[in-house]
Amino acid sequence: MINLTRNIWPFRSAQKGGLSQCTDDALYEIAEKASSLNDPCNIEEESYLLWVMGRLMMLDEVASPNEELFQVHPQGSGVRVYRKRVGTVEFCFLMFEPDGFIPYHDHSDCNGVMRVLKGEVTTRNYDLLEQTLEGMVLQPSAQAWMTAGRMASLSRHRDNVHQVTAGPDGALVLDVFTLFSHSAGCRYMKVTSSECWSGLAQGQLISGEGSA
Ligand SMILES: [Fe+2]
Repeated sequence: MINLTRNIWPFRSAQKGGLSQCTDDALYEIAEKASSLNDPCNIEEESYLLWVMGRLMMLDEVASPNEELFQVHPQGSGVRVYRKRVGTVEFCFLMFEPDGFIPYHDHSDCNGVMRVLKGEVTTRNYDLLEQTLEGMVLQPSAQAWMTAGRMASLSRHRDNVHQVTAGPDGALVLDVFTLFSHSAGCRYMKVTSSECWSGLAQGQLISGEGSA
């Protein structure tokens, strides 16, 4: 169930030299673009996400931070993270050990673009249909196997709940989150799905809010 409009394969060959500067330029351009957003409607948000994916796709390679800068991911298993906040954008590098994973969580009041830099991950996404005192009603929306170079996005209204699991060789992933309020962030949850993947699922929050 891969929606090709949300996943772009960059058919570009690798080049050497100046990678750090190129990466910095791209990330700051994205932050600058995000600063001009003001609570966009659905269509504008999707256009913005495609622009971010296009900007990342222009990078033959993404320079990643030194390993010693990564810290243990508070909710993941076998995952380390490095975060850099620029304006309303958080750039989040995730280093997965083999079969490491980040459990189900949403991205409240923010959207995101994921690019796999090394290895492979599988993702499973839900749309949040309704939130009640009893919990969340979730609609399965996408699942994908992503190798290095693949990208995917989620918006405030689409695919906003997901889990990410690395393959047997681990993975390095860059997430670019655009935050629309001071309270934007992740909420981790237990998801109880029906036997059929296409059926509705229930989400129960298991901890407080955290960083995107
Ligand atoms: Fe996420």
